[in-house]
Amino acid sequence: MALPLGTSAALCRPTDNPTPNVRPPTPPPQPHAFPTAPTPPFLQRLTRLLPYLRDSRAGLLVALAGAALTAATEPAIPWLLGKLLDQGFAGGSIPLWMVPAAIIGLFFVRSMSGFIAQYGLAWTANRAVLKLRENMFAQLLKSAPAVFSQQTASGMTNTLVYEAQAGVTILSSSVLTLVRDSLVLLALLVYLFTLNWQLTLIVALLFPAVALVIRALGKRLHRLTLEGQKATDDRAYTVEENMLAWRIVRLHGAEAQQGKRFFGRADRVRQLMMKAVVAGGTMTPVTQMLAACALSVVIVIALWQSRSGTSTVGDFVAFVTAMLQLVAPAKHLSDVMASLTRGLAAVERGLDFIATSPAEQGGTHTAERARGEIVLSCVSLRYRDDTAAAVDDLSLHVRAGETVALVGPSGAGKSSLVNLLPRFVDPGSGIISLDGVPLAEWNLLALRRQFALVSQDVVLFNDTVAANVALGTDMPREAVRDALRAASLLDFVDSLPQGLDTLIGHNGNQLSGGQRQRLAIARAIAKDAPILILDEATSALDSESERAVQAALERLMQGRTTLVIAHRLSTIEHADRVLAMDAGRLVEQGTHAELLAAGGLYARLHAMQFRT
Ligand SMILES: Nc1ncnc2c1ncn2[C@@H]1O[C@H](COP(=O)(O)OP(=O)(O)OP(=O)(O)O)[C@@H](O)[C@H]1O
Ligand SMILES: [Mg+2]
Repeated sequence: MALPLGTSAALCRPTDNPTPNVRPPTPPPQPHAFPTAPTPPFLQRLTRLLPYLRDSRAGLLVALAGAALTAATEPAIPWLLGKLLDQGFAGGSIPLWMVPAAIIGLFFVRSMSGFIAQYGLAWTANRAVLKLRENMFAQLLKSAPAVFSQQTASGMTNTLVYEAQAGVTILSSSVLTLVRDSLVLLALLVYLFTLNWQLTLIVALLFPAVALVIRALGKRLHRLTLEGQKATDDRAYTVEENMLAWRIVRLHGAEAQQGKRFFGRADRVRQLMMKAVVAGGTMTPVTQMLAACALSVVIVIALWQSRSGTSTVGDFVAFVTAMLQLVAPAKHLSDVMASLTRGLAAVERGLDFIATSPAEQGGTHTAERARGEIVLSCVSLRYRDDTAAAVDDLSLHVRAGETVALVGPSGAGKSSLVNLLPRFVDPGSGIISLDGVPLAEWNLLALRRQFALVSQDVVLFNDTVAANVALGTDMPREAVRDALRAASLLDFVDSLPQGLDTLIGHNGNQLSGGQRQRLAIARAIAKDAPILILDEATSALDSESERAVQAALERLMQGRTTLVIAHRLSTIEHADRVLAMDAGRLVEQGTHAELLAAGGLYARLHAMQFRT
């Protein structure tokens, strides 16, 4: 009997306010928002990387040993020079062969240890980046649906592919610099201290001053880096869009406009990079000026001391050489701040994604094969607070094995309704249950095993025909062929040069619209799930192939719960029940004949379609 369903809504209304039974949609993550909380101290931020280094401790130890050895060779150079001057020239007591032996030996050790340090670190870093990527991708595979509407594909690619690599590479080379040059600095300072502690104290005064400069500029650099990441994402997004939409861009003559849009975004990246260069580059001249001041003071005092006869020429040369050697590591260290900031921010983007993007939450209920009874009670879904509900207080009972057709004008909420079932989106209020068990209590894998879906927008993988049909399983080829046959696609596939193993291009762009749709139908047929959802599944087919596919689908519907959405009403005349939706509500239900007789929305839609 045709029922106007205003009543179900009236039953739902009073319970509008109580706590929703189903998890409310998780607030979307904001991975690119600039942090409002103060950034934690640098070292604390670095420690977040430790889990990724755990498996590669050996490489880190090797790198550290190499760096320490390099550092130890550093004071040997001024020491050697001092000895040469005092004993080689003045005393003449050193055998000549010892000079090349000492120098070559020293530099051999120095370069070998440098290589070892670099190798050890690269080994560690590349293993860490692999692990980071693996974790990020795993997070992507299980993250809540909201993440996919918040992030762009190019932004995600940027984080996962480029930023992770660049971040770890920059970070590891700057950590190497940090460790090696700090050790060099320390070794040289210790040596200087033994030579002349008063002078060394003057040199050491430099450090707090430099630290102050670094601190001030570090903050600005961090902010610029984050802004730079956002700008880089926007730039990549323009490329992504123009790759996908090239036909429309050309047809509408939008090249100049798109070119300007890209230039604007690329130029923004350039501006930010220049700002970062200025911020990072200011450190070097400032620290060098400070170093020059210290150097002049030291030389004056040293000269004054030597005149009073307390030190030799060799001592003086050794001291000044060692001091000049301080300049290079000090310069590296003052530069390293910029790279550390950049590298850390890049890696943190991935770490933040792993830490903050919510994972999907499923329950524990499992079943191999559901009966397929679906009940919705007072279900509402609102995508955004400021828009009308896409599904509005809807109650519905679909019996196991029943074929239900959903009709209604565009935007009525039909796709939204079926997307609720495999939990691609969760309702804001109300309960949906399958076989009497609320969806939230179902294990997600088990729940999704129960549905085969042909969605309105066909999604195919850039893989072989067979892989697209068998997606996620290793189905025998005969089963793949059966599914293709049922979808009226086997003859076509057999005519392809590589048959089942033909690659079909990005989202199947080497197939026609109808072929893509039939491939999606074959995939749904092959899945053999107890519940079938067909959202405009045959809309791209000509009448003849639609009839063939329709026959196969009708065979498939036997013994399964089926939800069919179709604008072409001829495809749904055989449904057990027709539901008419409008503005998120169920407005009519009954058989095709009953609804026609009732003269409501369905009758109107039908009359419009079959008017000749
Ligand atoms: N991901 C989304 N984010 C925000 N709003 C959405 C989203 N998907 C759908 N909507 C909105 O929800 C409403 C219902 O959309 P839905 O896709 O369910 O309609 P439909 O009945 O399937 O229409 P059609 O027949 O055109 O496919 C529309 O107003 C649409 O703007
Ligand atoms: Mg739709």
